Amino acid sequence: MLVRLIYASRAMEPDANLIESILAQSRSHNPVHGITGILCHGGGIFMQALEGGRSAVNALYARILNDPRHYDVVLLHYEEVLERRFGGWTMGQVNMGRINTNMLLKYAEKPALDPYSVSGKVSLALLEELMATASVIGRT
Ligand SMILES: Cc1cc2nc3c(=O)[nH]c(=O)nc-3n(C[C@H](O)[C@H](O)[C@H](O)COP(=O)(O)O)c2cc1C
Repeated sequence: MLVRLIYASRAMEPDANLIESILAQSRSHNPVHGITGILCHGGGIFMQALEGGRSAVNALYARILNDPRHYDVVLLHYEEVLERRFGGWTMGQVNMGRINTNMLLKYAEKPALDPYSVSGKVSLALLEELMATASVIGRT
């Protein structure tokens, strides 16, 4: 049975090395556990969608919650799903600093990634639009 989980968090010390290290961990761990998803980052904020089997996603989220490299982890969305939406990526990434501000303004008050101030549904809609506009980069 598949689930989709989306959360937001704030980086302790945002820098490119942190993103690279998270992506490296994701790419080694996620395929083995059948996890796919997207990691958005910008302005020191993360928003990540995880998809996969319920136990695998819950176990990974528990590890992520305890990761000292970020804080203020907030669950935005959790649901059982019939199919994956982000199945093309072991962990795709989106640098929100490079996204057209119109797309961000469509869903939020300010042209920045701010999942803390919008609903989980809106965050999911933004992720879908990022996917539809080919804004997600990463290996499959
Ligand atoms: C924002 C963020 C996203 C992460 N995403 C993943 C992920 O998709 N897959 C993964 O294996 N680890 C991810 N990690 C790293 C985990 O928190 C953890 O460090 C890693 O799985 C190793 O766990 P372990 O030390 O318990 O083996 C993420 C960490 C952060 C801060």
